[in-house]
Amino acid sequence: MKKPVIAIDGYSSTGKSSISKIIAQKLGIIHLDTGALYRGVTWFALQNCLNEDGSIDLQNLFSSFDEIELEFKNNNGELVLFLNHIDISKAIRTNEVSENVSLVAKQKEVRDFLLHSQRSLAEKGGIIMDGRDIGTVVLPNADYKFFLTASIDERTKRRYQELLSLGIEANEQQVKENLIIRDKIDSEREIAPLKQADDAIVIDNTNLSRRETIDSILSYIKNI
Ligand code: DC
Repeated sequence: MKKPVIAIDGYSSTGKSSISKIIAQKLGIIHLDTGALYRGVTWFALQNCLNEDGSIDLQNLFSSFDEIELEFKNNNGELVLFLNHIDISKAIRTNEVSENVSLVAKQKEVRDFLLHSQRSLAEKGGIIMDGRDIGTVVLPNADYKFFLTASIDERTKRRYQELLSLGIEANEQQVKENLIIRDKIDSEREIAPLKQADDAIVIDNTNLSRRETIDSILSYIKNI
């Protein structure tokens, strides 16, 4: 039986990654959180490519791509992101990264840099990839495409709880503002904007638990 290729797109904090991780375990396939890759590049830029005023020097970042080695390592079933052999899985969740990632992710150079590795991971099948442009650009021929959405208040609550559980200080109003700004930049950018693929199944999980969202997605997945 061929293992499926599944694309999960949607707004920030709709639970895409945690849901995809559990579905991957259930189906015995790989999970790739593509947002982590964009966050990883942003973290690198914040460490190495800043202008004097503290903003990111994009040209410097573009010319530094060959110094960036991103790698997921399996730690007891948990995929941990390493950048140049440093574990950055917690560092990429900080507010500083969240506040800058949409600016970095909207750059064509950055998207091109990350596109090839995302596609090559899906070549053998058996993968669930979550992000913003997976069903539209990265894997337009995916076997299944889902688009997750939820109200802004519910998403704020989830993101705030996630930060607290990671031990990262947070202010709920700022979390909400960051989500609204990111949604806007991600949806309005010229290249690979956040949008629902025509053939995606839309799931609004405002009033669904994680379990219910997973069950809903799994109900569509047939043996292929
Ligand atoms: O899923 P996330 O919140 O960790 O993603 C972080 C940012 O990366 C998000 O604001 C938009 C960007 N992103 C993207 O542009 N394309 C993807 N496939 C995944 C994420």
